[in-house]
Amino acid sequence: MTRRVAVLISGRGSNMVSLIEAAAAPGFPAEIALVLSNRPDAGGLERAKAAGIATAIIDHKEHPTREDFEQAMDAVLEQHNIEFICLAGFMRVLTDWFVERWAGRMINIHPSLLPLFRGVHTHRRVLEEGVLIHGCTVHFVVPELDAGPIIAQAAVPVIPNDTEESLAARILVQEHLLYPQALRMISDGSARLEGSRVVFSKGWNSEGALRSPS
Ligand code: GRF
Repeated sequence: MTRRVAVLISGRGSNMVSLIEAAAAPGFPAEIALVLSNRPDAGGLERAKAAGIATAIIDHKEHPTREDFEQAMDAVLEQHNIEFICLAGFMRVLTDWFVERWAGRMINIHPSLLPLFRGVHTHRRVLEEGVLIHGCTVHFVVPELDAGPIIAQAAVPVIPNDTEESLAARILVQEHLLYPQALRMISDGSARLEGSRVVFSKGWNSEGALRSPS
């Protein structure tokens, strides 16, 4: 069965592109049915259109409350019969209502090895702390920010003279490999949320659960 997926973005959408490309492969268990942005100027919107994907803009500035904004998003997701949501650089904090409505069906990619370095400016903070291993994580979304059960992680070394930009670029390469693998795992049911844990039907370190630097 091919799952209908929405990718939620706020910016350039490079992870969105990696998901669109992966899902276009024959036999992939998900299709990107919608790209939704809260920002009308998000660069990813043009990239999605160029790939022939339906797009929607729900501008948070046009909605008086967070709840109102999320109701509008939810209505569009419903119209498109969306089953799973991938947050990909979506820069709005979601209410408990929305998160709980999509519990077990909404995932996010975060540029650190969670539970380390939740929040923003992860690469800068990694360099400040002198950490030598960094990475990215795909996790189910729960109400607490960047705190959900982990589906897949990839690690990269921090190397001498790294800057925020060089580190971000090294991790982005891994993000683009990791996110499609995690989407595959939730779409074919090989990773699913049970309570507060992820259950892996093929074992926690099956293909995609752990990537080493390439
Ligand atoms: C990525 O680094 C992702 O980990 C974080 O936001 C960034 C989005 O980049 N959540 P892009 O829009 O996918 O290029």
